[in-house]
Amino acid sequence: MSPVVIIAIVVVLIIVFAVIASRRAGASQGGGAAVSTWTVTEVVKETPSTVSFGLDATLDFQPGQFVLLRPEASMPWRAYSFSRAPGQPLRLTVKRVENGKVSGYLTGKLEPGARLEVKGPYGQFLMPPNVTRALFVAGGSGVTPFLSWLHTLDGRGWPFPVTLITGNRSAQEQILKVELDALEKKAGGKLACVHVTDDAQGPLTKELLGSLLEKLEAPSLVATCGPEPMMNNVKELALTRWPGVAVLEEKFTASAEVVGDGPGVQLELMQDGKVKPFEVKPGEHVLHAARRAGYDLPAGCEMGACGACRVKLHSGDIAVPDEACLSDAEKAQGYRLICVGSVKGPARFESAP
Ligand SMILES: Cc1cc2nc3c(=O)[nH]c(=O)nc-3n(C[C@H](O)[C@H](O)[C@H](O)COP(=O)(O)OP(=O)(O)OC[C@H]3O[C@@H](n4cnc5c(N)ncnc54)[C@H](O)[C@@H]3O)c2cc1C
Ligand code: FES
Repeated sequence: MSPVVIIAIVVVLIIVFAVIASRRAGASQGGGAAVSTWTVTEVVKETPSTVSFGLDATLDFQPGQFVLLRPEASMPWRAYSFSRAPGQPLRLTVKRVENGKVSGYLTGKLEPGARLEVKGPYGQFLMPPNVTRALFVAGGSGVTPFLSWLHTLDGRGWPFPVTLITGNRSAQEQILKVELDALEKKAGGKLACVHVTDDAQGPLTKELLGSLLEKLEAPSLVATCGPEPMMNNVKELALTRWPGVAVLEEKFTASAEVVGDGPGVQLELMQDGKVKPFEVKPGEHVLHAARRAGYDLPAGCEMGACGACRVKLHSGDIAVPDEACLSDAEKAQGYRLICVGSVKGPARFESAP
């Protein structure tokens, strides 16, 4: 075969593979990250305020990860964790929050056939290796990443015992309780669920949590997801009772931004070949301040979990909390996350893919 024919065949094969790959992902580029459009296959009402919906797509993700989605281009991106294991049909489970823009739409208006814009997967809430015994504590919709973990452990034949404590407002509001019951039954003693509801035992307070933890054997992993005060209590109690235990946390809501009145700091955004100055108030997050100044910057979860707001420093510094999803190597290269980043002095930066 002549070299020309071989080159022609290789070129044709490359084009065919590229077309197949782009069709499979249904992807287009937008906002610096690949955006796919997924179709909703079914919508199931789980509780008065929660729905699950299936999605007609395939995605490689790890248990505990999430996607960013928006139902319409006019809506903000929001993070939702998969509530099934990788390999099972994709499913997200969303609880309505009061006056919530996206959760209100998803729990009230979503119908089969709807098309959603999706980016991801993202997230570092991943099951570590070598766990020998685990305690999971979930509040409200914080049970979703644990469902993905539990389905995964079920698929692996329960390599270690797990206790799951859930907290919900009422028995009616317990998310996917029937599914958790079925997993517990199937696990043959390897999964023990303790469901606490405000209307039965009272809220999952520090005291109640403490008394529940007292009954447990020492785990090698404690993982928690839910309201921030609950997660703080879980961490404090676990580290007091089992010093040195690994504690993993997944936040669904951003920590409150405490903006002070003192003098602000001048920052410079490099965008479209221009230097765009703006002021950041004490304690204010850089993304918030940039928006106040009218600058449009990419963002997703807005709580340091997805990396969509990543910027690169040209000078100065932006302080980012340790738990944000930036590796030490990325920090050393000058990358920062402005949704949770704050400043003490002037800095110049640009958006980074
Ligand atoms: C990594 C990650 C994974 C997530 N996974 C899920 C999931 O699987 N299922 C799920 O239901 N949600 C999940 N969330 C929360 C979700 O991303 C949204 O924050 C939530 O749906 C509210 O968005 P909204 O647009 O409806 O509310 P907004 O319009 O943003 O907020 C309306 C009001 O509610 C408050 N608020 C916002 N979020 C919450 C909250 N979670 N609880 C109480 N008050 C809140 C706001 O401060 C505001 O006052 C996850 C969040 C993160 C960061
Ligand atoms: S928007 Fe997700 S990390 Fe900043």
